[in-house]
Amino acid sequence: MAVYLVTGAAGFIGANYVHLLTGWEPDAQVVAVDYVGFAGNMANLDPVIDQVSFERVDIADPAAMETIYRRYRPDYVVNFAAESHNDRAILGPGAFMRSNALGAQVMAECSRIVGVTAHVHVSTIEVYGELAAGQRWFTERSPLNAKTPYSAAKAAGDQIVRAYMATYPELDIRMTHCANNYGPYQLPEKLIPLAVTNLLRGKKVPVYGDGLQSRDWLHVADHCSAVHRVLHADLDPIPAAAGTDPGLLPIFDISARREVTNLDIARRVVTALDLDPQEWIEHIPDRPNHDRRYLIDPAKLETDLQWRPEHEFEAGIAETVAWYIEHRDWWETIIAAKGELGFDWSQMGPAPAH
Ligand SMILES: NC(=O)c1ccc[n+]([C@@H]2O[C@H](COP(=O)([O-])OP(=O)(O)OC[C@H]3O[C@@H](n4cnc5c(N)ncnc54)[C@H](O)[C@@H]3O)[C@@H](O)[C@H]2O)c1
Repeated sequence: MAVYLVTGAAGFIGANYVHLLTGWEPDAQVVAVDYVGFAGNMANLDPVIDQVSFERVDIADPAAMETIYRRYRPDYVVNFAAESHNDRAILGPGAFMRSNALGAQVMAECSRIVGVTAHVHVSTIEVYGELAAGQRWFTERSPLNAKTPYSAAKAAGDQIVRAYMATYPELDIRMTHCANNYGPYQLPEKLIPLAVTNLLRGKKVPVYGDGLQSRDWLHVADHCSAVHRVLHADLDPIPAAAGTDPGLLPIFDISARREVTNLDIARRVVTALDLDPQEWIEHIPDRPNHDRRYLIDPAKLETDLQWRPEHEFEAGIAETVAWYIEHRDWWETIIAAKGELGFDWSQMGPAPAH
């Protein structure tokens, strides 16, 4: 029986992965790890809680994580755990550095010293920064050029994992960079669930600046299927030439090549609820240092591992909007516990030190 250790399992993507994994591999033992921080929500695991072993642990705590590894002896590790909310990273970068950089190192180290079959470090398109005018997309060969506290912390984690790839060839560690995800169980601070939950309560959809920030959008289930494909891929050992060519490292960029502006996303949600975008969208001051445009090329994943997304964008957005309409209890409980989500940067003073 294979043992999976999945971190960040009470978050948006980790929970979706655990739901899918229990269906794909009903005989596997799934150890779900999360410290249930700001974005963590135990209710995300409700549908599978009887099928997983849940451990409330901080991945950046080496002794606690080593104990978990030695207790369960995982074959497969997927590290989704990260602090991920860009606005919050501006207000308090410290927690992001700890989870996204130190946490990545502790996870890699535990996999190295205890021994696993394969480990996937889940990262983001945002480590590449923003595209220059005329640049089509990023690839695995693009330099890391993060400029926000969130993406810089993720890029630090990436560099650490690359060092583990190069230094410890006996450790089978792989990495993914994914485009923006949409789907069920996303905290209603992010654009799509924020838009739906606002509209259902008679509030407008806030859009940062002109809303023309351009993003690459992928259904969360497609992200999960890509991560699973990378985890189980039969890969050759890393060649010596990878030292100067990161395209040869076991790193895979994930995207459905679907570029859409934030304003377009907001309009789609408003019209899905039969409302008028002119009336129900309001432009608010932009987040400081907001990446303007990013897109990645999934050609390596498609060619080497024959992965393809299964969710068509228009249908995926419609299903996602319907999910939030149908799961009002889920998001009302979150808003009752955390207060109104979403940021108004015109009201923010200087960021406190963290
Ligand atoms: N959401 C996206 O569009 C997107 C796109 C590409 C990559 N990613 C990456 O995918 C991963 C998951 O993203 P998400 O959107 O589900 O984020 P999320 O914030 O919804 O969930 C992350 C989870 O990790 C947990 N966590 C954070 N730090 C931890 C720690 N030190 N120890 C234990 N648990 C910890 C949180 O409590 C939370 O439950 C992240 O690594 C993120 O960088 C996200």
